[in-house]
Amino acid sequence: MCGIFGYCNYLVEKSRGDVIDTLVEGLQRLEYRGYDSTGIAIDGDEPDSTLIYKQIGKVKALEKEIEEHHPNREVTFVTHCGIAHTRWATHGEPVQINCHPQRSDRHNEFVIVHNGIITNFRELKQLLLNKGYTFESETDTECIAKLFKHMYDTNLKNGVELDFHDLTKQVLLELEGSYGLLCRSAHYPNEVIATRKGSPLLIGVKSERKLKVDFVDVEFPDTDDVQPDIPLNSARTEDRNLLPIAANESALRRSQSRAFLSEDGAPNPVEFFVSSDAASVIKHTKKVLFLEDDDIAHIYDGELHIHRSRREMGASAIRSIQTLEMELAQIMKGPYKHFMQKEIFEQPESTLNTMRGRIDFENNTVMLGGLKSWLPIIRRTRRLIMIACGTSYHSCLATRAIFEELSEIPVSVELASDFLDRKTPVFRDDVCVFVSQSGETADTMLALKYCLERGALTVGIVNNVGSSISRVTHCGVHINAGPEIGVASTKAYTSQYIALVMLALSLSDDKVSRVERRKEIIQGLKEIPEQIKQVLKMEPRIKELCETELRDKRSLLLLGRGYQFASALEGALKIKEISYMHSEGVLAGELKHGVLALVDENLPIIAFGTRDSLFPKVVSSIEQVTARKGRPIIICNENDDLWSKRASQSNLVTLEVPLTVDCLQGLLNIIPLQLTSYWLAVNKGIDVDFPRNLAKSVTVE
Ligand code: F6R
Repeated sequence: MCGIFGYCNYLVEKSRGDVIDTLVEGLQRLEYRGYDSTGIAIDGDEPDSTLIYKQIGKVKALEKEIEEHHPNREVTFVTHCGIAHTRWATHGEPVQINCHPQRSDRHNEFVIVHNGIITNFRELKQLLLNKGYTFESETDTECIAKLFKHMYDTNLKNGVELDFHDLTKQVLLELEGSYGLLCRSAHYPNEVIATRKGSPLLIGVKSERKLKVDFVDVEFPDTDDVQPDIPLNSARTEDRNLLPIAANESALRRSQSRAFLSEDGAPNPVEFFVSSDAASVIKHTKKVLFLEDDDIAHIYDGELHIHRSRREMGASAIRSIQTLEMELAQIMKGPYKHFMQKEIFEQPESTLNTMRGRIDFENNTVMLGGLKSWLPIIRRTRRLIMIACGTSYHSCLATRAIFEELSEIPVSVELASDFLDRKTPVFRDDVCVFVSQSGETADTMLALKYCLERGALTVGIVNNVGSSISRVTHCGVHINAGPEIGVASTKAYTSQYIALVMLALSLSDDKVSRVERRKEIIQGLKEIPEQIKQVLKMEPRIKELCETELRDKRSLLLLGRGYQFASALEGALKIKEISYMHSEGVLAGELKHGVLALVDENLPIIAFGTRDSLFPKVVSSIEQVTARKGRPIIICNENDDLWSKRASQSNLVTLEVPLTVDCLQGLLNIIPLQLTSYWLAVNKGIDVDFPRNLAKSVTVE
C-alpha cells in the first residue's frame, strides 16, 4: 500500500551515487507494498535545487530511468536528505505524472512522498485552484505539496518565517484521512519532515559513536504555536481547539533531544533511515524508533526532533530507540525463487517459533507472557469478538470452534470492514481480538479504535512488532513468524492459527474438565512442525497436478466442512490472488443448496476429506460430487483405507497428509493449497510476489 523511504546523512561523506543507491535499495525492500510506480527526490547541482526521478513499474524501471539521465554520481555531500516512494495507486492511475514524489511547483519548492489517502483532497484542491494554483497530477498528494507552499508563502507575506515543523503543523491541520509522509524543501535545505497518521513510519538511526541516551523527547505544542494564521479559511478552522498544556509539562515542551550527541557531547556523524517498514532499514541499522500518529519528526543537523501536531492528554512524552530482533537473512530470498515459496517452506521453523518458550510440552501448559495478567478478565467476558481481514480472518474462522469448546465463551468472527459498516454494538465487558500480520491494516485498525472508544478490552494477535495494532491494543501475542514479504500470506496464517489455539488453551487452563483435551492438543502442537516438513515433501506431486489436472482450468471449487471450511476459504483466496484463477471455498453442507449445479466432469474440485467427527458427512458430500461425474482431488490422511480403496476403484486423486488432532488438521491441510496456488501461478508466468492490483499491507480503507 505504498512504501516510503528517506535517507539523511550528517557528517558522513556520501557521493550522490551512494545516496541514490541507498534510496533505490530501500525501495526494493518495500516493493511488496506497492509496485505500480516508483520515484526519488535528491539534491541537485545548484544550491537548494532538487532532482526528481520517477517511473512507472517496479524499482528496476526507476534505476533505468535514473541511468538514462546521467546524474553526476561523484558529487559528494557531508549532509543530505533524500526521499523515495514505491506506489500502489489509490488516486490517479499509474502514469508517470501521478508517480511520487509530488511537488508544489515546477521549481520543486516542496516535494512530498505519501502513503495513505487524503479524504478531503477534492475540497482542498478546489480551494487551491481558487487561489490560482494549477495541478499537474490526479493525486491527492499533490494537494499536500501545494498546501505546504501556500502556507509558506502566506506566512512569509505576513512577515512570519516558520520552522519546517511549525509549517508542517499548519499543513496537517488541513488534512483529513491517513498519511505517512516525507517532505523536503528548497526553503529548508538538508532537512526532512516525517509525519504519520494511520500509516506506519519508523526511523532507523546509525551512529558512529555511542548515543548519549536511547530515547527522543517529544516536543509538545504551545497553544500559541499552534494557532496558525489560517490561510485557507476552510470550514473546519473553528474546530481547532487545542487543549492547554499542564504547567508541569511546559518544560518538556521546549526540551531539546540530546539523543544524537555522542556520549562526550561531540558532534556525531549520524545517518537516519525513515521507512514504512523495518525490512528496509535492517541492512543499515537495528536501532529504530517507531513514530506515533500525529508525530512530526524533524531531522536536521544530525538531530532528530519529534513534535506533536496536536496536544492531547496522556500522550507519551518520549519515543524510545529500540533494537530490532530481525536478521538481514530473514528478508532475503535465499535459495528460493520467490518470497512466497521461501515463506511456505519456512513454516516448520515459523510455527516452532510461535510456540517457542510459550508451551511446556512436558507439563502440558501454555504461558503467554503478554496476556498473563489479563486472562482473568478475558475469562469473565460474556462474548469474544475476533476481528480481521482476508487470511487473518480465515485464521479466526479456523479456530473459532476450539475457542468455544475450550473456553465456553461465545465467539463471533467478524470481517473488520463489515463489522464497522454494521456499526456493531460493542460493550465495555466485551473482549475484542484483532488478528493482523502487518498490524497496520486500515479496516482492522479502525475497528480497533471503534472498540476502544466503546471501552472493550482489546487483544492483538500480530506478527509485525512495533506495528500500530500491537501498540494500541491493551495486550496481546506476537506470533513471531518472522518478516512476511510475499504478498500472499502463508506462514503468518499457520502462526496466527497456532497463536489463537494457544490463547484458547490459556483461557481454559483453569478447567479440570478440559485437562485431557488440552493435553491432546498440546501434544498435537508439538508434532506440527515435523508434520509440516512432511507435507512440504509433496511439492513435486502438487507441481505435477498443476501441470496436468489443473492446467488451463478457469475455475476451482474447494469443499470443506467444520474445521476445514476455513481451509477451503483460505485455499480459494490463495488461488485467486496469486494465480488469478477463479476459485471458491464452499461449505460442504451447502453444496446441495445451490453449488451442486456447477458440478460436472470439467469443473476441478478439491475436497478436504481428513478424519474428524464430521468425516461421514464430508464423504457423503463428495459422493454427491462423484455422482455428477465430478472428479475431486481429495486431501486425506495417510493410509486412509476408505480413500485408498476409492482411489483404486475410481479415478479419484488423493493428496495424503499426516493425521493430527481435529482442531489442528487445518494447519497441515492448508499447505498443499499454498503450494497449489504457488505452482498454478508460476506455470502461468505470474510474478508470484507481486500479484496484480494487490499490495501487502492495506493501510487505506
Ligand atoms: C491474503 C492476504 C490478505 C491479508 C489481509 C489482512 O494472502 O495476505 O488477505 O491477510 O489484507 O492483512 P493483515 O493480516 O496484515 O491485517
